[in-house]
Amino acid sequence: VTGATSFQTAGVSDTLAVLRDVVLPTFAKGVMIRRPKVVELAERLDTDARTVRRMQRLRAAYGDDPVYLKIPGRSHLVLLSARHVHEILEGAPEPFSPCTLEKRAALGHFEPGVSLISRGSDRRERRRFNEAVLDFGCPVHRLAEPLLSAVEKEVVSLVEASDVRLDWDTFHARWGRIVRRVVLGAAAAGDEALTDDLDTLRSVGNWAFFHSGKPATLKRFHHRVAEHLARAEPGSLAETIGGMDQPDRLAVTHQVAHYIFAFDAGALATFRALAVLATHPVHAEKAAREATSGDVQTRTRLPYLRACLLESLRLWPTTPAILRETTREAELGGRKVAGKTNVMIFAPFFHRDDETLPYAHRFSPEIWLAGEQDSGRALVPFSGGPGLCPAHRFVPMISSALMAGLLARRTISLSGSKPLHPDRDLPGTLSPFGLRLSLA
Ligand code: HEM
Repeated sequence: VTGATSFQTAGVSDTLAVLRDVVLPTFAKGVMIRRPKVVELAERLDTDARTVRRMQRLRAAYGDDPVYLKIPGRSHLVLLSARHVHEILEGAPEPFSPCTLEKRAALGHFEPGVSLISRGSDRRERRRFNEAVLDFGCPVHRLAEPLLSAVEKEVVSLVEASDVRLDWDTFHARWGRIVRRVVLGAAAAGDEALTDDLDTLRSVGNWAFFHSGKPATLKRFHHRVAEHLARAEPGSLAETIGGMDQPDRLAVTHQVAHYIFAFDAGALATFRALAVLATHPVHAEKAAREATSGDVQTRTRLPYLRACLLESLRLWPTTPAILRETTREAELGGRKVAGKTNVMIFAPFFHRDDETLPYAHRFSPEIWLAGEQDSGRALVPFSGGPGLCPAHRFVPMISSALMAGLLARRTISLSGSKPLHPDRDLPGTLSPFGLRLSLA
């Protein structure tokens, strides 16, 4: 790659500034499982707002073409414009592969066979399997009825048990039950040890290359997932999986490990969405109206509540760094990018760029109903292109049903002093761990 055909490289001080303000906070918070204390600190420092400002300064200095960081060894390219984001995401899995060195190191600790870090025909078949299980192309999953009635039952218990206060631990524990029920069936709802094992492995995953792994826990976890799947319990994803061919190369328990892992992001996003609704009366009223609508069609689709979840993910993306690795020398925006380059998309920058987005820091669920995601912007909470999250409709379906169940029964307000006001900019970083909701 030479002169005119390659992108600029940031200077040493700009590279260090990006590492300090963008890369370090993203990884310190915990990529595989959040570290609550670091997230609380990040909230106090509002590190995500700093990330956005740093990226804006980078763009002001270098223009909106991608920029290499000046790091010896591996080549790292940072994207600064939405059109390049789409070009990269559309180019998966070749030449812009989702299977990167960093992801292999991190996810390898608990799901080395997941589609995301597989290649070639393994990736193709595992991805196809995940799309089929999750009804990727359908807004309403074929098992919506039993799944949503499971969610409803859990919401009823949650409302009864939590009385008037709903903090993160209570919410998260209930979410964990919902996830095990939805994925593995009601008989797995109480299997907290399963999720504990996965959390241990995810904590190891946070250390990626710098941890040798926990093989005994890994084995026990996958064995337990296989036992639950063997029941193929009706009304859960295990039923769907039970009806499918499962050749060894599909590494089914690895795909399912990812379902349980990735659902955790749904808890973060749903709890934040509830906190925002608790402080935004106009939106809360619309949401409550949808939640109490008796129409069965509306209850499985819940477009407004789904949009609220997407908006929570725009404001506080749970996959802040979307990484791609070039499998060979490739072309981007008409220029050459060397093989094995790590291409980095920092979602908070694209989602909160107040130099280009009028709604950057305001809760605006209506943008999702108006199709803003197709407007050429890079609103990519679920990634995009052939690597788009196969649960991009499944997660909103489950989350909106939970929110509807709560809102139909209780009025929610926020206790404590989080800076969430409809007339003021929302914070760049919002830790869910200190959020306390009151139910009336
Ligand atoms: C709020 C919740 C979720 C968000 C924001 C989310 C987001 C994402 C993103 C950004 C990716 C692409 C990652 C990358 O390119 O490195 C991804 C991939 C994936 N997600 Fe999700 N996800 C969520 C929940 C789920 C759930 C609940 C499941 C399964 C039940 C799931 C299944 C998958 C799978 C299998 C992949 C890999 C796809 C591939 O190999 O191409 N996700 N998700």
